[in-house]
Amino acid sequence: MFRKMSVVIAFLCAAGVYAQSPRLRADNVDEVFRAMTLKEKAELVVGGGWASLFSGFGIPFTGHPRVPGAAGVTNAIPRLGVPQIVLADGPAGLRIKPGGKDEAEKRYCTAFPVGTALASSWDTALVSEVGAAIGDEALVYGVDVLLAPGMNIQRNPLCGRNYEYFSEDPLVAGKIAAAYVRGVQSQGVGATAKHFAANNQETNRFGNDSRMDEATLRAIYLRPFEIVVREAAPWLIMSSYNSLNGERTSESRWLLTDVLRREWGYRGVVTTDWAAKRDTKRQIAAGNDLMMPGDALQKSELKRAVKSGKLAVAQLDTCVKRVLELIVKTPSFLGYKHTNAPDLVAHAALSRRAASESMVLLKNDGCALPLGDVRSVALFGASSYDLVAGGTGSGFVNKAYSVSLADGLRGAGFLIPSALSDDYAAWAGKKSHRQKSGGFGPVQKYLGLGALKEKPLDVEYIRRYVSQSDVAVVTVARQAGEGKDRHLEGDFLLSDVELSLINDVCSEAHAQGKKAVVVLNVNGVVETASWKHLPDAILLAWCPGQEGGNAMTDVLTGVVCPSGRLACTFPVRYEDVPSAGNFPFSVRGEKPKNCVDSTVYAEKDSVGYRYFNAVGAEVSYPFGFGLSYTTFAESRGEGSVRVTNTGAVAGRHVVMLYDESSPMRPLVFFAKSPLLQPGESWSVAVQKER
Ligand code: GLC
Repeated sequence: MFRKMSVVIAFLCAAGVYAQSPRLRADNVDEVFRAMTLKEKAELVVGGGWASLFSGFGIPFTGHPRVPGAAGVTNAIPRLGVPQIVLADGPAGLRIKPGGKDEAEKRYCTAFPVGTALASSWDTALVSEVGAAIGDEALVYGVDVLLAPGMNIQRNPLCGRNYEYFSEDPLVAGKIAAAYVRGVQSQGVGATAKHFAANNQETNRFGNDSRMDEATLRAIYLRPFEIVVREAAPWLIMSSYNSLNGERTSESRWLLTDVLRREWGYRGVVTTDWAAKRDTKRQIAAGNDLMMPGDALQKSELKRAVKSGKLAVAQLDTCVKRVLELIVKTPSFLGYKHTNAPDLVAHAALSRRAASESMVLLKNDGCALPLGDVRSVALFGASSYDLVAGGTGSGFVNKAYSVSLADGLRGAGFLIPSALSDDYAAWAGKKSHRQKSGGFGPVQKYLGLGALKEKPLDVEYIRRYVSQSDVAVVTVARQAGEGKDRHLEGDFLLSDVELSLINDVCSEAHAQGKKAVVVLNVNGVVETASWKHLPDAILLAWCPGQEGGNAMTDVLTGVVCPSGRLACTFPVRYEDVPSAGNFPFSVRGEKPKNCVDSTVYAEKDSVGYRYFNAVGAEVSYPFGFGLSYTTFAESRGEGSVRVTNTGAVAGRHVVMLYDESSPMRPLVFFAKSPLLQPGESWSVAVQKER
């Protein structure tokens, strides 16, 4: 009897407390926060675990979360009306598990061009449109926070995640990232600027220590984040895995509070990267508000630290309040009823337009492009038939389809010899021809298959198909992903098979009086100097998203006049890169032995074109380079630049202004014109950035 009574009394007390508890509203965060217990505070700042990320793969105990495949969730606090919120990747499109038993139920997302491609458009308005479309898909699929953009400086061409990032230049990286964030957050979901900061390699990313002087750190590696904070106010920033000058970024009060909040005025939430090495109480004390994906140990660490006095409860409270202030902005809190039905058709059209605007025409001798009176194409290269739409790792997108260059050309009415196409299809069918990329190992298959190895062809075979066609096209592809940096041989450098293919196709085409075009479907910088003399034209298509083949065709045929410009330098040799001596280096199959635990940024602010300008060194293709099918004239007035299309076809131009007073000639302003008809002019006011 006594037991029953005590249960009833306990229930009534709990019910009473529950009934008296304030329910979270946008205007009573302080009241709710004051009502929270220590346990609830720990629950709020430590995420809800891995369940959603590995859900849907049939892994036991991974639960059935609201959005399978999302990267993580926070914990709800029902007593106080605090809902769970959902966080999902990634930069080139929302990454969730399609699920669904049949096609109609699947939750596909749109694969947009990767970050380094978007930056090559130099078009902040376009990037905002892409951000808005990805934000819309996040909203519609029930996600509150998108874990993007990735915006670290492309310090070295071999970084495995450069494809997700924007540029070697801090102004371009910052402005493009800010445009992306504005787009995402225009849909009422949060964006996450990542990875803060100096996360410029994948080798030992959880433990590497990026070491540099403060002037370099601020001018090059922090500046993009400063721009995005001041111009776009991202709801979240993700601290990086690495250490910075001996201190883990997620535990650095100087970085996360003194610089980010006190100097720059940031008012959002800082989350860790996923399962970062950590000392949880130090993270909270530093101002890292959210521990993702979160585990029980972190919660008990926090409670013990507060009870023992090792962590001031005021520091925990600061983080708790910021997380509550984030939650009250989210669709989950606002009761948004998501439909799981985004407009994938409209988003695909945008992906195609963004891809074509991001492609860079590197060479076009004798106006080989656009393809004029051409009907048939001798299309070589395995990835001509198997597009590398994006990268692997958290930047992968579960898309409904992708359009290869062959698909795009056929869709535009071009003929491709069917026997040639069949041979490549057979090649692609062999799993052994896939080269793994990225560091996810067995999980890799869920996150991208890796690019195809190139198919060796003999000259007679090439000659036969070139003779049946009006033009020859060769595609070279590269794929990379998080967790692993790139290699030199067969990655940055073209393989022998690729070089032979380009050489033989170009010589056969020229022997038959035909043009030869190379298309680069690559995730980042590759070596070009040793072979670029061979083809008549070279189109850098990057990893252009699911509509890549159509976008390539749009540019190759002149439906779209190429207007992309390089946002990174293509050096003659890898060894010319200023950070080459201070970046992890290994031959394929071996682990790097240098720059594993500590990487010294000895080149300081001599990153990319700044270095090549200052030393006057030759490059293969310079930062800012890109050809067009038309020509433009610029006239620079006081505080403005006037651009006129002086050619015969409509096109777009990018105005770039550099600080000529410095040997490095840093970029101080850029703007992209609208489409200008022949003879049409456009003026832009110049606001030079420091
Ligand atoms: C990853 C990445 C980060 C991603 C997160 C969640 O390891 O570093 O960019 O958002 O984990 O998937």
